[in-house]
Amino acid sequence: MAVLITGGAGYIGSHTCISLMESGYDVVVIDNLDNSSAEAIRRVEAIVGKPVKFYQEDVRDKSALCKIFTENRIEAVIHFAGLKAVGESAKIPITYYDNNLISTLYLIEVMQQFGVKRLVFSSSATVYGLSKTMPLTEDMPLGAINPYGRTKYFIEEILRDLYASEPDWSIALLRYFNPIGAHESGTIGEDPRGIPNNLMPYIAQVAVGRLPHLNVFGNDYDTVDGTGVRDYIHVVDLAEGHVKAVDWALCHQGCEPFNLGTGKGCSVLQLKDAFEAASGVKIPYVITPRRPGDPDTVYANAEKAKNILGWEAKRDIKQMCEDTWRWQKNNPNGYETK
Ligand code: NAD
Ligand code: WQD
Repeated sequence: MAVLITGGAGYIGSHTCISLMESGYDVVVIDNLDNSSAEAIRRVEAIVGKPVKFYQEDVRDKSALCKIFTENRIEAVIHFAGLKAVGESAKIPITYYDNNLISTLYLIEVMQQFGVKRLVFSSSATVYGLSKTMPLTEDMPLGAINPYGRTKYFIEEILRDLYASEPDWSIALLRYFNPIGAHESGTIGEDPRGIPNNLMPYIAQVAVGRLPHLNVFGNDYDTVDGTGVRDYIHVVDLAEGHVKAVDWALCHQGCEPFNLGTGKGCSVLQLKDAFEAASGVKIPYVITPRRPGDPDTVYANAEKAKNILGWEAKRDIKQMCEDTWRWQKNNPNGYETK
């Protein structure tokens, strides 16, 4: 019996493959490598010392999905595959709706066809929109503010409808906060294509000299030092949250959202300072105008995941920075060897 991981070659998916295999699960991966590299899968295999069954296919290819379900005994699915860049989603929204929604609909249909009804879905804290009340709890109103966020919100709604109509499903909607960090081996990590959109990979690329300086998007927010505050979570903690969610899905029925965060906020400048301390490298920065749509503060209440899944984040900002730095220093060009 195996867990099918869509998007398993990606940043969070590759770390989750390791945590699942280390917990005794077999994994099967489908990824079209649109935003990842097969090298990530090879390195996962090297870390765990076991092969990963990998299909380089698109989740929107129903016949490929059927082949995977025919060739493997899949007992649960973790659905990471999707496009995730907020800014890009406003420029090419239809591509985002096509990829994220169609892949999910086809996946559900094939799961129905094969009688597999346990699903863990990669949602996002972005589904809370611009809520002013912190910390965020799962029962707060939802309201995504960009096409990417709406794909996550719509998929959550689709999955709630699915559960309402077929209550023998088990669906965990995992709302991630800001995943950063890397596996402690320093051999897998986040490898964005082009100039990073997100803060931590940007800092890491400044540190290795790929980018000249960090742009800090605004220092006039109502926060500790005027810069944006977020709930950064170590990607290995997040991966372990997926193992707990699969454990839960295998022995419960329901459709439940869970925040996966640390419950603690950290500002842009605090993260920069922590990275400098961990790496010993100075990160030059300039203050630039705010990025449109950025809230001042976002952090989770993660009590529900603790109480129901038995999961909580263990790794602190220092470790997140040390592990990111180890990965970036050893792999200045990510998975590309040049
Ligand atoms: P990622 O881009 O590294 O991984 C996604 C993977 O899915 C990639 O390997 C990509 O090639 C693959 N993929 C995309 N569309 C596909 C398709 N149609 N068929 C097959 N494979 C496809 O991203 P990530 O950071 O690992 O994020 C994983 C999931 O978590 C995404 O759904 C993302 O929206 C969600 N999420 C990410 C963050 C974050 O900050 N990283 C936060 C919240 C939610
Ligand atoms: C963090 C902080 C920026 C880059 C995004 C998505 C969200 C989720 C996680 C998928 C903010 C500041 C950033 C830079 C900066 N993804 N910043 N300079 O915006 O909290 O969340 O990723 O679901 O949906 O919106 O993360 O890392 O982009 O920004 O000053 O070059 O860093 O303003 O305060 P964000 P981020």
